[in-house]
Formats: sequence, C-alpha cells, structure tokens
Amino acid sequence: MSENQVVSVEYVGEIALICIDNPPVNAGSAAMRQGLQKAVQDVNAEGKAKVMGVYCAGRTFVAGADISEFGKPPQQPFMPDLYNEVEASEIPLVAAIHGTALGGGLELAVSCHARVAVPTARVGLPEIHLGLLPGAGGTQRVSRLAGIPVALDLSLSGRQMPAKEALEAGIIDRIMEGEPRDVVLAAAEDVISGTLQTRVTRDIETKADDAAIEAAKAMVAKKAPGLNAPVQAITAVAASTLPFDEGLAAERAAFMACMGTDESRGMIHAFFGERAVANIPEKRETPRDVQSLGVIGGGTMGSGISTSALMAGLPVTLIEVTQEALDRGVATITGNLEGAVKRGKMSEAKRDAALANLTASTDMNALAEVDLVIEAVFEKMEIKKEIFGKLNTICKQGAILASNTSYLDINEIAAMTDRPQDVLGLHFFSPAHIMRLLEVVVGEKTDPAVVATGFALAKRMRKVGVRAGVCDGFIGNRILGHYLKTASYLVLDGAHPDQVDKALEAFGFAMGPHRVGDLAGLDIGYMTRKRLEPTRPPEERYGGAIADRLSENGWNGRKTAKGYFVYEGRETLENPDLDGIIEEVRAEAGITPKTFSDEEIVDRYMTAMISEAARVLEDGIALRPVDVDVVFLMGYGFPRHRGGPLHYADTIGAKALVERIETYAKEDAYYWQVPALLQKMADEGGSFDKMNKGK
Ligand code: 3HC
Repeated sequence: MSENQVVSVEYVGEIALICIDNPPVNAGSAAMRQGLQKAVQDVNAEGKAKVMGVYCAGRTFVAGADISEFGKPPQQPFMPDLYNEVEASEIPLVAAIHGTALGGGLELAVSCHARVAVPTARVGLPEIHLGLLPGAGGTQRVSRLAGIPVALDLSLSGRQMPAKEALEAGIIDRIMEGEPRDVVLAAAEDVISGTLQTRVTRDIETKADDAAIEAAKAMVAKKAPGLNAPVQAITAVAASTLPFDEGLAAERAAFMACMGTDESRGMIHAFFGERAVANIPEKRETPRDVQSLGVIGGGTMGSGISTSALMAGLPVTLIEVTQEALDRGVATITGNLEGAVKRGKMSEAKRDAALANLTASTDMNALAEVDLVIEAVFEKMEIKKEIFGKLNTICKQGAILASNTSYLDINEIAAMTDRPQDVLGLHFFSPAHIMRLLEVVVGEKTDPAVVATGFALAKRMRKVGVRAGVCDGFIGNRILGHYLKTASYLVLDGAHPDQVDKALEAFGFAMGPHRVGDLAGLDIGYMTRKRLEPTRPPEERYGGAIADRLSENGWNGRKTAKGYFVYEGRETLENPDLDGIIEEVRAEAGITPKTFSDEEIVDRYMTAMISEAARVLEDGIALRPVDVDVVFLMGYGFPRHRGGPLHYADTIGAKALVERIETYAKEDAYYWQVPALLQKMADEGGSFDKMNKGK
C-alpha cells in the first residue's frame, strides 16, 4: 500500500488502481510526481499486481504540468524521467482518460502501455499557448503512436482532440463508458484477459514525413512569424524519427530553449491573467438570478449579444423600433447561429432550441418580466437616457438594467432611473458572439450583487469579465483613444500609415491601426473627434486632420472600398489620393516631415499605451495592471506572447519608460507627460508585476 497526499493505490485482486487526486485539474505538481513515482515503484516492488490502472479523481485527467511551478527551482522527479520510469515498469500500466488529458497529462497517458477514454474526453498538447512545447516526451511518443502529421497538428495548434478522433488517430486504444474508476478497472481486466493489447510506445518506429515537416515550417513562417515555440516544436517532432533517447534529448533541448523566454512568460501571464480578473471585491456577493434577458437594439452589437445569450441557453427578448429593423436583427441572429453550427460550435438541435428561445417585439413593454436588460442602441446620451427612463417604469423590481455603451457615463444614465443600484455597464466587443471580453462597468451606486451578476453572466456566456470604473471609454477605449493619437502624430510628422501598420504588425498586432480604422469604419473615429472637439484642450495638438479629410471625401474604409487603403475584392491596395492629402495637411500645419525607424514607431506607440494605462490605474478605473492586460489581449488584438501592455512595460522597465517620455516631451509637452505612478515606480524600483502581487 502506498499513499501520499495526492496519489493513492488500491488493490482489486491482481489489479493495482492508482488514483491521482490533485484538485482542481490534477496538474503534475511535485507532490503528484513524487506520489506517482512512489506508487509505480511500490507496486512493482510488491509484485502482487498483473497490471496497474491509472485514473484521476474529480473533473479531469491530468491537465498538464503545474504551470505555477514554472520559473521556480525544479523539484524531482522531473516529468520526462518519471514518464520514462512509467514506461519501463515491469508491470504494464493502462490509463483511463476523462475530462481533458493535456500536455503533461497526455504525455503520462502515452507513456502508459494502453489508453482508454470516456466518449466525452479530449486530448491535446496545448503547451504552444504557453510559448512552450511538450517537454516530457509528448512530441516523441505521439509521433510514434499517431504519426508525424498528428503530432505536428496537436503541438502547433494546441487544440483539444475529441476521443473519437484520438481513437482513429491511434493515440488511444478504446472508448469506454462509465465512471473513471470503473472504466480503468474494466480496462485493466481486459489487459489481463488479453483483449486489450499493451505496447511500449518508445519501441514503435516513427515513419519519416519530410513533406509534413516542410509544410509545417512554411505554415509557421506565415502565420506565426518571429515566434520561437512553434519552430522548436517542429524541430522536436522531426527528431522523433531518431532513436528514442536521442529524440527525447532533442525535445528537451527545444523545450529548454523556450522555457523562461519573454514569449513564454508573456503567454503564461495571459493564461493566469484571464483567470485572475475574476478576483473582484464583489466576488463573495450572491449574484441575482438571471433566467431571461432583454436586448434593446438589433444592430450588429445587439444581435451579437443576443446570439451569445441564446447560445448560452438564455431566453432573449429582442426589441427594435420598427418591424423592419426587428426583422433585420432576427435575420442577423439566425445567420450568427447558423455560422456557429457551421463552425462546429453548436449542434442543429441546439440552434433550433436557441431560436425557439428568441422573442422579438417592437414594444418595450415586452421587457416587463425579464431579469436583465442590455441596451445596445446608437451611442447618443439622449437616446440612452430616454430608454432608461422608460425601462424604469416598465421593468419589474430587481431587474438589472445594463448599457452596452462603449464610453458614455453610466452614472448619468443610471440617474434617469429611481434604481441606480440596479444599473451597470456591460460593454461587449464586436462581434459579440465571438469576442470573449466583457467590461463590467461599475457605477457610483451599482449594488455589489449586481456587479457579481455581471461577472456570473460573463461566465455563463463563456466570456471573461473585467471590472472597470466609469470614465470616457472605461479601460480599453480610453487607452485606445490616447495611443491612437500617437499613430496620427507619427503620420503627421513624417511616417506613412502603411509603415506604421507594418511596424506594429511585425511587433505582433494582428492589424495596424490604420487597417483597423478602415475595418471598423473611419466615420466612427470622425464622430468621436467631433463629439470631443468642444472639450479638447487648446494645448492638445490635433492629429485627426488626415482622417477627417478621408471621411469628408466619403472614404470611410472597407465599407466604402476606400479609406487609408483601397479594397478590391480580397486585395488591399494603396490609396492613390492618400499621399496628396497627407502632404496637404502637413503643408497647412507647417510640418517638415522627418523619418522614423520601425523601432521608434513601436516605442512611441507602446509608450503612449502604457502611459495612459498607468493613468487608468491611478484613477482606479482598472483594479490591477493585469486587468488592463486582459482587456488588451482579449479585446484589442494585443499580441499574446507580449502578455499585455503592462506586462510588456515591465520588460522595458519604469526608468527607461520615464526617460522615453521625457525625450518625446521635448516635442510635445502636453501629450507626453510622465504619469505619477510610473515616476514612483522608476524612483522606488517598482513594477506592474509587483503591483499585481499587491506589493
Ligand atoms: N497548472 C496549474 N494550474 C492550473 C493548470 C495547470 N496546468 N491548469 C489549470 N490550472 C488552474 C487554473 O489556473 C485555475 O485556477 P484558479 O481557480 O485559481 O483560477 C484552476 O486550475 C481551474 O482552471 P480553469 O478555470 O481553466 O478550469 P476549466 O475547467 O475552465 O478548464 C482546463 C480546465 C481545460 C484544464 C484548463 O485549465 C487548461 O487549459 N489548463 C491548462 C492546460 C495546459 O496548458 N497544460 C499544459 C501545461 S504545460 C506542460 O504540461 C508542460 C509539459 O509538456 C512538460
């Protein structure tokens, strides 16, 4: 009998059942590794068993190495050695997978001598999402069991492969229904009776597949240029045709070349960040019960929000002013749901159930009984105020009244009701049924239980809620509004929009700001600038003149086929009129253009982003630096391997950032001001990471 805190052994006749119980996800922590090693050694030493069955308690099989141990002094036994020991066991092991066998979890399963899984199980090698690759034999053993193309697919996509597919691929041997303990026991009996074959994975030969390796290299060069982990993963998989120990050594070397890099640190920060943002002051409040939703507005946002709620199984009442607009909204929702079926996100039966849950009306009184209303109409304060005034009289007591505004004052909106405690902002990102970010905007008088309900709703809709305070633009759009000015100043002063975009795309953004502007519609920025014009301080340099002229010509980007660029079919071409406009504006402003290196473009853009993010923290709009990071990673296409603007800021350091701002301030002392928080960090040796940790 062997036992430690997380691994226990139980004999059932000639079968030794090894149970890993390491909540929440049975990660391969030091205690788990030590326990498993001892269990395998003890069972072998006792010699009573003919077979060992490994399974997990709780919701999942081992979900990988314990990520929280990365960066700390490593503790023995190391995973690759342990799994070699498992594979070398005299007594064969069979693994029973339920939930997800991921990374080090799948690596454990493939070092066992047979594998079974319940029908709902999934397997994967998601290390790539942490800037890593499998480091405990995964690339070597999956290639041996399923071939190089499957090993490349799993380690480069990081996707979770369903049990059925894993069976067809040869990663698992059988699908069996039942509770994990029953399944592993039955599988072990089959091993004894000879109906389930055992194999030693390392003894299988990997078939060389140079074409697959070359195709993967080309794909990575195109889709993930500059990233290290995908390149290293291909090297490791390619090494699986070597004798096993040589291949394993190559995998180890590749893994070590990824561990601790900025890329990996950034992605690990993003992984924990997405979970850390749920830690809000209101987390102990009991959320209000939400069983039905009302959505006002059937435009892109309202339809997207409705789709997302319907996909989460919530009944939705959609309101529009005219029957025509309502029909358009319903058609968009139907199309969105259809798309979800096509992408494999929902079954046809679920789509039908979702559509049956949709009620559409032109009468706001239809919202009388809903538990939560989300207003998603045009961004005009007067319209929103009128709607909230009406909701105040229509909605039942205790109903939550939310606005999807992306920058307007929630307190002013709430003041239109006599129940401001029930009002909050729920700022979704477009397309709302796909984007996972939700800013939960907390007004002065919002009831803490209402905040908790916003977070519960986010979770139910499979979104990540981030708590934001009230200011123009909240966390994301406020910071965006500030750093976009840098992009326009760079162009005014001499850079070309295409150069700015390409420099930022090389940094890792999916699209540069001018291409994003064209995609979103330049009229949006135009309207915002006009709205803010009366409040613009005289000291502030105006950077919007070039964009204004494009809009005034009716060139609003993709929707008009012309903006900063010209769009012909799938092609993006130069706008032949752009240079003329730029020169005209520069001449009128008396600017002699200068040249900017790509590096300087990125430095200025990022410094502006970090500066405003620091002020957002100073003002208490975001709870912690990690909240800002998650908003940018999930809502603004910020490169995941950079970990978010404030994680990236720490890689530069507060002192260097202050120096940069002081240099830029010589040109424009109004725009480039050192935020007090950054100055304090520079003076006291602080960092955003320390702030996240409450130091
Ligand atoms: N290590 C440490 N903690 C982990 C973890 C891991 N591998 N996986 C999840 N956790 C933690 C989460 O941080 C979270 O903690 P919290 O409650 O304090 O916020 C808790 O476990 C629950 O996680 P989720 O909220 O994500 O739970 P879900 O049920 O939604 O998802 C999951 C479960 C699919 C397993 C998901 O957690 C996941 O994808 N985990 C990461 C899997 C992974 O990347 N594995 C590879 C690790 S690297 C590796 O194995 C290297 C090896 O090759 C040498």
